[in-house]
Amino acid sequence: KKVMMNLLATVLLVAITSVANALTKSDFPAHFLFGASTSAYQVEGAANEDGRKPSIWDTYAYADNGGKSKGNGDIACDQYHKYKDDVKLMAKMGLDAYRFSISWSRLIPDGKGPINLKGLDYYNNLIDELVSKGIQPHVTLYHWDLPQTLEDEYEGWVSRRIIKDFTAYADVCFREFGDRVKHWTTVNEGNACSIVGYGSGVLQPQRCSSSSTFNCSKGNSSTEPYLVTHHMLLAHASAAKLYRTKYKAKQRGFIGFNLIVLGFLPLTNTIQDITATQRARDFNIGWFLNPFIFGEYPDVMKKNVGSRLPYFTSKESNLVKGSIDFLGINFYYAYYVKNNAKSLQKKDRDYTSDMAAELILYFGNGTSPYEIPVIPEILEGELHSLKNDYGNFPIYIHENGQQTFRNSSLDDWSRMECMHVYIGSLLDMLRNGFNIKGYFVWSFLDVFELLYGYEISFGLYYIDMKDPTLRRQPKLSSVWYSNFLNNRTMDS
Ligand code: NOJ
Repeated sequence: KKVMMNLLATVLLVAITSVANALTKSDFPAHFLFGASTSAYQVEGAANEDGRKPSIWDTYAYADNGGKSKGNGDIACDQYHKYKDDVKLMAKMGLDAYRFSISWSRLIPDGKGPINLKGLDYYNNLIDELVSKGIQPHVTLYHWDLPQTLEDEYEGWVSRRIIKDFTAYADVCFREFGDRVKHWTTVNEGNACSIVGYGSGVLQPQRCSSSSTFNCSKGNSSTEPYLVTHHMLLAHASAAKLYRTKYKAKQRGFIGFNLIVLGFLPLTNTIQDITATQRARDFNIGWFLNPFIFGEYPDVMKKNVGSRLPYFTSKESNLVKGSIDFLGINFYYAYYVKNNAKSLQKKDRDYTSDMAAELILYFGNGTSPYEIPVIPEILEGELHSLKNDYGNFPIYIHENGQQTFRNSSLDDWSRMECMHVYIGSLLDMLRNGFNIKGYFVWSFLDVFELLYGYEISFGLYYIDMKDPTLRRQPKLSSVWYSNFLNNRTMDS
């Protein structure tokens, strides 16, 4: 039986590798970018070095979340010290671009005030290294790591004061790095950040109502997600305005925002579930895109959230409208949507009850429960409705990938197949007229993961956390991506 299994595995290996390698980068338009992503807290390490101060992510990682220890980003991949070797790997792999984020509290430890020169050096060096190898830096300013000082001082994103401090931080980044960085994303997954950080309270800064089962000490789930999004939109728009008035003419870069896009499918073909599906879209991405494109929140949000939804003055509305040059999309999961009109009658309403829809995870044909289903047709469907509702503006797929147990085999078939299928489907999407500019796989390395720390990972390279050298070990997916990017097929 074992011999048969081995034989089968070998046959499969040859078959999949040859099919997978039939696709190469040369099939894509020359300007289409292929890259890989990480974020500061998840990859840098050196958390207490060279003047960096803690962010809300450090606090979250150190909190006792029901006794479940997930580790922390103190060391992570130690990219802070190993960036040169990492950039070498990227160049060898053939990446056009590297998407990373700046740690606000490394650059400006208290969130405002003096710049940390060592932090400045680090990002200058990383950017120089990338540029010297012909790799475009695509930079995120906020990947969920607010300086703890600002959280302590005025509750961070809950307060309007964040707008001024975020704009000043962005100003430093544009001024110092903008000669080389041409793609700026102000916020990563703004929607998830509000919902998960301030609604359910699962992630940092773990604010939610006391009825929650999570470890929330402060917060108000019925109002804070809306306030936080409002302030994010204004902070983004204020930074975009600053860029356009002060830097754009000389630096010629672009400002974008990033959202997690969930696939939404009506549970049944009833008009109720179909309407609920559109409502779920409005609550997830329309919440941001309606203001970006039309200058106001979607009607259904105004109706369902009522006076708890903040209001844009006409000056603010004009500031937010038209403030994105591109949208970054992270795509992983899909959900069935079931209408839940009853939730609107609840006394203590929050984001979930306001949406009046129940989301049921779509499993697809995943072969194991933790595998993310590979569903490019659902991504295409979402892009289609996005284009219908908001127009065909430039889009980057900023994140997409497959999770596996971190210490499983280096032969990560499922990840290789996931990349192959999604990248192949991008060709169809481009032919169908979608304005997609690039694709970034999450993640370049096995990083410190959001929910599962070092247990589960998405990386093209494995890092054994017990190995003091933190050697980057190529997985099959990295070999596949490298072949694809260097236009190599099996026989060449
Ligand atoms: C979402 C986030 O942007 C990133 O930080 C996270 O690790 C991945 N997607 C995977 O969950």
